[in-house]
Amino acid sequence: MLPQDLRLARADDFTALAAITNHYIRTTAIHFGIDDVTADELRTTWLQHQDVYPWLCATEGSEVVGYAKAGVWRSRPAYRWITETGIYLRNDRCGRGLGTRLYRALLGVLRAQGFHAAIGGIALPNAASVALHERLGFVASGRIPRAGRKFDRWHDVGFWFLGLQPSEHVPTDVQTPERVVAMGCIGQFKV
Ligand SMILES: CC(C)(COP(=O)(O)OP(=O)(O)OC[C@H]1O[C@@H](n2cnc3c(N)ncnc32)[C@H](O)[C@@H]1OP(=O)(O)O)[C@@H](O)C(=O)NCCC(=O)NCCS
Repeated sequence: MLPQDLRLARADDFTALAAITNHYIRTTAIHFGIDDVTADELRTTWLQHQDVYPWLCATEGSEVVGYAKAGVWRSRPAYRWITETGIYLRNDRCGRGLGTRLYRALLGVLRAQGFHAAIGGIALPNAASVALHERLGFVASGRIPRAGRKFDRWHDVGFWFLGLQPSEHVPTDVQTPERVVAMGCIGQFKV
């Protein structure tokens, strides 16, 4: 079961998700975007793969204060059991354990769906994100030097890998996020 304050994203969440994201686009190189992302752009990305890749929201009452998402790692069919994950909290909600809870829940959904691995790409430096990924068992798996340039500085991007299934796991069709959440069959994701 998902904790009460975490749920799958809905179509009317994307104004809040865009506002959370745009803070980091405008003020940091954590996100390589230069122009603000619109709610429609984010919603379109979500809608394209809604049946496969979960986006989870963290809420306080009716307010969305963070989100964690999964998406396409690479598009060729043989890659379909691996996913790239990401997470953004409202900046005034960082550093209180929420990121760990939300990301852990996302990984639990992905595991229950049948994904075999997750990859986190991190624009460096980002001490909080590196600590979050490593706390949840992700292992540093490569680094691209000077992958992006923002605010007149080059930034490396590192990739962190997490296996979600035992190595002998035989992949089956990936279940929809709605199905695994509705059936409450999200195992506790423990490292
Ligand atoms: C990265 C992020 C999701 C982490 O969530 P969080 O709720 O702030 O983190 P938590 O409180 O759950 O702590 C997770 C780990 O990060 C560490 N951490 C948190 N903030 C930190 C900071 N500012 N600097 C260094 N480490 C930090 C914690 O100590 C903890 O590590 P530990 O278990 O080894 O002690 C959140 O800070 C965030 O949204 N940051 C901005 C967006 C971002 O960087 N997204 C990731 C893009 S790749």
